[in-house]
Amino acid sequence: MRRFYDCSMSEKLIYTAFLFIMGIGYLMAMVYLYTTHEWHDGKPGLSIEDIVDTYYGNRSGTRLEAALRGPMANYIELGDRHHVVSWLKSGAPEKEYTSVVRPILEKTCLACHSPASGLKIPDLSTYAGIRQVAEVDTGESLHTLMRVSHIHLFGIGLVLFGIGMIFSLSAIRPWLKYTLIVTPFAAMFADILAWFLTKWDPFYAYTVVTSGALLGLALSAQILISLYQIWFLKRPVGAGP
Ligand code: HEC
Repeated sequence: MRRFYDCSMSEKLIYTAFLFIMGIGYLMAMVYLYTTHEWHDGKPGLSIEDIVDTYYGNRSGTRLEAALRGPMANYIELGDRHHVVSWLKSGAPEKEYTSVVRPILEKTCLACHSPASGLKIPDLSTYAGIRQVAEVDTGESLHTLMRVSHIHLFGIGLVLFGIGMIFSLSAIRPWLKYTLIVTPFAAMFADILAWFLTKWDPFYAYTVVTSGALLGLALSAQILISLYQIWFLKRPVGAGP
């Protein structure tokens, strides 16, 4: 079986250069990830909440619900508020706006919240108007996730292939080698699957973190073991040419 100590100088140089560039690329990607997602929850540092906010969104808050629980609470009965809030939670569909929500708002709200009042406040008398304060933040759209995930699968897949092919020349225990070769692929797949699952249930944000960490660990191990063995592992005495 071919090992690093069987490689020509040209091969060693191209492997080393490739591993360096990929390693730096990976670090850049991490810094980029950190700085783009750090502020999602309004606090410094990357946390589970940031990841939940990215994919699941912040669904607890619409301006309408905040108003109903806060400054506008006096204008609505508890039972009615409950109806409006569950309408919001169900995604604020137009049909129920007309059949359920508007009749409730007519009781008091529309006296102020319609163009007739002349006040510069949200117009709740039309569906288009109420949408402005009823938008629920549901995180990245499925469309964006699909775009980003196909780029990741192709791009990272090729990077893992290149690094894995080089690493396959290392001399370590077969079970460890096989594990380190398969792990990054499995982790990348789990990571991307978890983006979609997090959109559905915030719990999967933990899978995003775990699989991302596994990918990083396995990849670093492959790169470091390869670099070390390329330059420092001598052919064992008695090993064939
Ligand atoms: C007496 C007039 C009046 C009534 C009745 C009234 N509002 Fe308002 N509402 C206001 C004014 C004035 C503002 C803007 C100032 C503020 O935000 O407090 C406002 C602001 C709001 C906002 C915007 C909050 C934001 O984030 O900017 C919402 C949503 C809202 N009201 C909903 C309601 C609902 C729902 C009802 C009925 C349950 C209602 N209001 C009843 C006068 C009224």
